[in-house]
Formats: sequence, C-alpha cells, structure tokens
Amino acid sequence: MRTLVTGGAGFIGSHVVEALRSDGHQVWVIDNLVTGSRGNLPAGASLVEVDVRDQEAVTATFERLRPSVVFHLAAQTLVATSASDPFRDAQINVLGTLNVVRAAVAVGAAKFVFASSGGTVYGNALQQPVPETHPLNPISPYGVSKVAGEHYVRVLCGHAGMSTTILRYGNVYGPRDIPESHHVITVFLDALLNGEPPVIEWDGEQAKDYVYVGDVANAHVRAITAGDGEAFNIASGREITVNEILRLVCAELGVRVTPLHRERRAADVRRFLLDCTKAEQMLGWTPATSFAEGLRQTVRYYRQQAESRRRHALTLQ
Ligand SMILES: NC(=O)c1ccc[n+]([C@@H]2O[C@H](COP(=O)([O-])OP(=O)(O)OC[C@H]3O[C@@H](n4cnc5c(N)ncnc54)[C@H](O)[C@@H]3O)[C@@H](O)[C@H]2O)c1
Repeated sequence: MRTLVTGGAGFIGSHVVEALRSDGHQVWVIDNLVTGSRGNLPAGASLVEVDVRDQEAVTATFERLRPSVVFHLAAQTLVATSASDPFRDAQINVLGTLNVVRAAVAVGAAKFVFASSGGTVYGNALQQPVPETHPLNPISPYGVSKVAGEHYVRVLCGHAGMSTTILRYGNVYGPRDIPESHHVITVFLDALLNGEPPVIEWDGEQAKDYVYVGDVANAHVRAITAGDGEAFNIASGREITVNEILRLVCAELGVRVTPLHRERRAADVRRFLLDCTKAEQMLGWTPATSFAEGLRQTVRYYRQQAESRRRHALTLQ
C-alpha cells in the first residue's frame, strides 16, 4: 500500500512509519522538522520537508506521491502554546489539517486516519472511563483544534466517499519523545539522567491513562482495513498517578530523589481514563505492552541516549 504519514519524523509518527514498514507498506513522510528529526526515520521511509500550512506545497506533494492511505499526525501539540497563541495553533492544527484533507481528497486517496487526543477532546469528563460517545467538550484551544480537525476529516472525506478513522490517543510515552513535549515520563527521565531534581506539578495525585507508543503505532496499521467512519480511544484503560510514575521511574533507574513541587498546569484535569473496548471490538486492537515493560524499554532508550551524548562530549574534549 502507498502510505503517507504527516508528522512522521516526530515521536509517535516515527513509530507509525516503523510499524507500516514492518507491515510491508511503502511510506512517505511529510514533516517540517520543527520538533521531529530525520534521525527518527527508519530506513526505507522517504522524507519530504513540507509545512502543512503551505497549501501549494502540500497539494503538489500529494499529486506527486499519490498515496492511498494518509495518516495525519503533524500538529502543534502543546496545550500551553495553544492557550498563549491560539492563532498559530489553529493555523497548523485546523488550516494545516484542511490542507492535508483537501490534498488527499484531490488525489482520490482511499483512507484518511487522523491523530486526535482523548486527553483533551472530552474536557472535564462526566464519567470515567470515558467512552467515545461522551460529549466533545474541550477546555483548551488545542482540544478545540482537534475537535475541529475530527469534524473536517469526517465531513470532507465523507463527502468525497473516502473512508476515515479517528484515533484519540491517551498519554503516549516511549522512546523518541523529547523533553520539550512536557510529557511527564520523558521530563522525569531527562531530569534524573541529567542529575537534576524532577518537578511534580499539582500534588502528583492526578491520575491519567498512559499508553506505550509501539501499541499506538499498531492501531494505525489496524485502521488501514478496519474502523471505517469511527472514532476510537487508543489508550491503556488504566490510570496511574504522577507520584507513582516517579516512584517507578526511580526504581527502574535505581535512584532515590526528593522531587520539587510546582503549581497545577493550566487546563490540567484531575483524572482521565479512556474506555478502549470499542477499539478492541472493531479494530481488534489491545494495548499489548504493560506499563512495567513499556517503562523498561523507555528507560533503556533514554539511558543509551544519555550515554552516547556523554561519549560524544568526551571525544570533543
Ligand atoms: N504525545 C501524546 O501523548 C499525544 C496525545 C494525543 C494526541 N497526540 C497527537 O499525536 C500527533 C503526534 O504527536 P507527537 O507527540 O508525536 O508530537 P511530535 O511533536 O513529536 O510530532 C509532531 C510532528 O509534526 C511535525 N510538524 C509540526 N508542525 C508541522 C507543520 N506545520 N508542518 C509539517 N510538520 C509539522 C513535527 O516536526 C513533528 O515531527 C499530534 O497530532 C498530536 O496532537 C499526541
């Protein structure tokens, strides 16, 4: 299958690219490398450096590559940035999504898979675990942009007779995330491996749903042939507190620390846990990696990264 992944040089996108390559697909990547990097891409995936805000370049790239399946992950991903600059957030996440959708429609792609966010589209959820039928009630501009993206994908692709699947991820963790993402596991590991105290926001008792990036990538492969016209929560269905994460990360690294504390992050929610039954029933997908195993793999990766940075610094001395 000819597949195209926007944001494929990023954290989750690069794992999607890897999973697609392993499943035997041809993969092209559109990315402007603002947070992603060339080094994240596996052999055999071709990168086209394009900004999704550039309508002409996006259209020309689709015309040249003519993909049959499109995975749209390129986005501004920070909730705080969306609050301080909602225009920029909307330009990338709403207008950029429109550019990608329209280009996919123009070349007659068969399937469009959209990366949405289970942690933000439901807002302060009325029930836990949150099912896909819960009202979409985002409380941040980022969440608004994801809801808008979902609707544009559904309506515009639907009118063109193109099949769509929306994947609403939980908190994704794993190798190749960067500390600038402000994701708690990556931020803790970055601090601890640099000999700095980790910082706990709020009281650390907020509990969220964390899912391993390799499992998330596999859901995309499933979505090529299943889940048409549907939205799915892609998470673990289990919650874990920030305090517990720090305890487990320290145990895995074999260190003891006293964390610093900071106030609650704006628009943070106390609890969020996604019901993933629908993905199991309709995509045949389950989160196969336990938190313990996912954390082990993640720690191993960041340890190797820290070690190669240390070696590189030594050779420069
Ligand atoms: N990480 C999570 O926990 C999580 C949770 C829910 C949803 N998501 C969504 O998953 C997707 C991937 O997120 P991620 O965590 O891998 O972040 P990421 O920053 O690693 O990936 C985003 C990629 O998009 C690229 N990009 C950004 N702006 C672009 C633009 N204007 N044009 C072209 N490329 C651009 C970046 O260079 C990067 O490679 C995003 O859509 C994000 O909103 C992530």
